[in-house]
Order: sequence, then structure tokens, then C-alpha cells
Amino acid sequence: AYYTRIDKETCIACGACGTAAPDIYDYDDECIAFVKTDNNQGITAVKNEYIDDMIEAYQGCPTDSVKISEHPFKAASCNNQ
Ligand code: F3S
Repeated sequence: AYYTRIDKETCIACGACGTAAPDIYDYDDECIAFVKTDNNQGITAVKNEYIDDMIEAYQGCPTDSVKISEHPFKAASCNNQ
């Protein structure tokens, strides 16, 4: 399985990811991207039918803000992360 999340600190709101993978990525009020399936936590496996779109988004982001992992991302709940 694959997991994805957006690094909202580095996203420059270019809008490419939501175009490549509209079923995964959406934009907040400031046009910064996030993963809409799990509110950008990166803990919900991406559906198989969306994997190709996810990879296209990953390759197309100009700031490498689209993150992909084969494991769930850890929740950023601690101050030391
Ligand atoms: Fe941001 Fe990259 Fe998407 S800059 S809007 S995460 S393609």
C-alpha cells in the first residue's frame, strides 16, 4: 500500500497535484494542498485506482512537497518533530 501527504510548509500552491490527482489532493483557503481523504495525516492507504495519479502528482510538484511512503506517516503530535 502507499500513503501520501503534503508538506504544507514547502507547498507554494502551484496547483499541479490537484490537477494530476483530483481524487486525492485538494486545497485549503490559501490554496495550499492537502490530502483530502484523511485531512493530510498520511495514514490512509491510497486506493489502487489512484496510484498512477499520485505518482504523477509526486513527479510534478516543483517543490517536492508531495510525499509518498509505503508506510503510514507518523502523526506530528510531538513538539520534537
Ligand atoms: Fe503545492 Fe506541489 Fe501541489 S507546490 S499545490 S504540493 S504540486
